[in-house]
Order: sequence, then structure tokens, then C-alpha cells
Amino acid sequence: MKVLVIGSGAREHALCRALSLDPHVTALHCAPGNAGIAQLAELHPVDALDGKAVAALAEELGAGLVVVGPEAPLVAGVADAVREAGIPCFGPSGQAARLEGSKAFAKDVMAAAGVPTARSYVCTTPEEAETALDAFGAPYVVKDDGLAAGKGVVVTDDLEAAKGHAAACERVVVEEFLDGPEVSLFAITDGETVLPLQPAQDFKRALNGDEGPNTGGMGAYSPLPWAEPKLVDEVLATVLQPTVDEMRRRGTPFSGLLYAGLAITSRGVRVIEFNARFGDPETQVVLARLKTPLAGVLLAAADGTLADLAPLRWSEEAAVTVVLASHNYPGAPRTGDPITGLDEVEAQDAPHAYVLHAGTRRDGDAVVSAGGRVLSVTATGEDLTQARDRAYTAVARIHLDGAHHRTDIALKAASGEQ
Ligand code: AMP
Ligand code: GLY
Repeated sequence: MKVLVIGSGAREHALCRALSLDPHVTALHCAPGNAGIAQLAELHPVDALDGKAVAALAEELGAGLVVVGPEAPLVAGVADAVREAGIPCFGPSGQAARLEGSKAFAKDVMAAAGVPTARSYVCTTPEEAETALDAFGAPYVVKDDGLAAGKGVVVTDDLEAAKGHAAACERVVVEEFLDGPEVSLFAITDGETVLPLQPAQDFKRALNGDEGPNTGGMGAYSPLPWAEPKLVDEVLATVLQPTVDEMRRRGTPFSGLLYAGLAITSRGVRVIEFNARFGDPETQVVLARLKTPLAGVLLAAADGTLADLAPLRWSEEAAVTVVLASHNYPGAPRTGDPITGLDEVEAQDAPHAYVLHAGTRRDGDAVVSAGGRVLSVTATGEDLTQARDRAYTAVARIHLDGAHHRTDIALKAASGEQ
């Protein structure tokens, strides 16, 4: 089967890596891709947001499956365009992707499906936001209603900062603060059958100790030694299946990847947010542990036959990924700097540790930075301690001027703490 992957991040590199290991995949294509993906797939300079262009490329290539990675093309209806061309597509319709594209829509679906989440108000004026902030008290949580690449959320004890963020957005969701550790649980679904993957934890803040601004994610690990074994079954029953059932009931079935961002609070599991696609960087660690060949699973979701699929097989190993970010990220990043040491990682750390590219591009013989999150160094090991050691050994070989990364990814979890 020929597979076309849409996107250009470390998530797409991880997807391409897993697909390249699947014996059923005869050719791998990616648009637009990056310098790392170019080693596994043929790249095509097609605009990921242009559904017609993506569908035309898939037809021209004779693709048997298109996998849409990022949220923006999904919300823009790229999966609809591919399906209209008669090609199986992994990824929800534009209507269904509103579960991620609008926080207010997601809250409405959760209310209808009885899914536990933070109490919230949708506000369109500064006065409404102020009333809602007063009602909940500190810490304040203010979310831009639309897509914001993980940066539209402000959590603060500072009332003025909370009001300021609300005033800067057209429509915001103000909600109660959820305490407790966060878990990302992904599920693959064809709109009816829901297949949960293994849970992971993501590190959203830029600096060690969960300090600094929110980012798109600075690292992740899986499994979660501290989590209750029943967590996945509980979330399937109380969150994932009811949400998928409600979307079907509304006539906008959700097929593709449903990502539940959860808080494990003292009062039970609560949904923080839904995403309509594989999360980044959690995908890097979840796919590192998946033993079932990926293409067949994604195709079964795309063509509605997930119920017939054998149970997924998982490695007992742990996986850790550490994101290397450009100077000044998550502010406007500096780009165009050369990245060295990638060959050393390949020569000395593979296959246990490897580099997944995000914001990179080729410049002559060099690989240079081209975005905020530049690379995701992923490693597996017998346990989190070994996986961390391998990941950080590889990170230390890589040089990018001004780059930064967190040094505490999976540190607490390696000793069994949350
Ligand atoms: P979101 O884009 O909704 O995932 O929010 C980004 C991050 O903000 C989450 O991963 C949490 O760390 C934090 N956050 C969002 N909503 C809440 C909440 N209600 N209570 C506490 N923290 C939150
Ligand atoms: N890991 C956060 C996200 O993908 O949105």
C-alpha cells in the first residue's frame, strides 16, 4: 500500500518511521515534510491546508491511505477533500475536528455526552469574562476559543493577566482550575469502535519544574508507572466512547485520532481538552512502544473496520522523548542555525535512541533549524531511567546554537512519582 502523510513535525516523522517499518507499506510520501522525513519518504511541496491539492497529489500517487497529522488541515476540511476523491483518509472531517477547533463546541459535546470536565463559561465581552473570573476565583484559567497551537491558554493567579488575555481574544472559555497530574490518552476510532492507545504524559511548560510559558510540548514519556491500571478502561467508558457516540448521534461522526487531555484530580478524571489528531510530543513515545504494524490500524479506522482488528500489541519497554527548541521559543524563534551531531547519534545511539525532526530543513550539506521546536530525541529502554539516560546521552551529542531543552523529562516518574 502507498501511504501519503500530511504535515511536517516530529509527530509526522514518528508516523513515517512507524509506517516505514510496516511491511504492508510499499511506498511512503509526505507533504510538505522536513529534512528528517526526507530520509524515509518522498517529499512533495504541497500546501497541507489545501484540500484539493492534497487530494490531487494522493490521486496522482495512487495512495491507498492518506494520514493527516496536524489540526489546521483537519479543521480546514482536508480529510473531507481526500475522502470525496474516493481515497481512504485517517483523520476527522472538518465538522468533527471542531472538537479541537473550538473549545466552546467541545464543552457542548461533553455536556451532552455526560463527560466529566471543568465547569466553564463561554464569554464574548470583557464584562462577561470578569464575572466568570470572579465566580471561579484564582487560579484563573482563560482559553482562546479557537486554534492557538497550545499557546492560547493562560493559567495564572494574577487577575489582571487573566483579564488581559480575555480582552485580547474575541471569544474565550473561562473555567475552573483543575488540580492533579495530567495524562494524554489517545484513541483510534472509526466513528463507532474506539481503540485506546497507551497513556503518556506531556511537559507543556518551557522550563524545568513546570516553570515558564506554555509551549506546544517540551517532552513526553510512556508508560506512566504511577497511574492506576484501570485508568485506560475508565477513560474509555466515561470519556472516549460517550464522546464518539455523541458525535455520531449529531450526524458528524468522528473518525481518526481522538486525543483526550486529562487531569487526574482529587475528585476523579476530568477532560482538560480534546484534540482531533495525534499529540506532539506524546506520539513519539506512544508509537515507539506500539508493536502492531501501524498502516493496517490507521486503514481500519479510515474504512470503518476497527471492530475486526486484533488487539493492539505493545512493547513492555518505556519510551522518553526530549524536545530541543530554538533560541527564544515559545517566543518568535531564531532559525537558520546549523545543527550538528545528528550523524553521531545515528552511529552511536541507534536503534535505542533516534532523532525525529520537526523544524528543520536542508541547506546544502547542512541541516539547519527552521522552526520553534526543532527536534525530538526519542529513546526506549527497559524502564524510564534507562530510556531517559539514552535520550539525554543523544541530546548531549547534538549542537544548535542558542537551543534549549528541559533536563527533567520523566525524572519524577522514573522514581514512581507523579
Ligand atoms: P489546553 O490547550 O486546553 O490543553 O491547555 C493547555 C494547558 O493549560 C494544559 O495542558 C494544562 O496544563 C493547562 N490547563 C488548561 N485547562 C486547565 C484547567 N482547567 N485547570 C488547570 N490547568 C489547565
Ligand atoms: N502535546 C500537546 C498537543 O499535541 O497538543
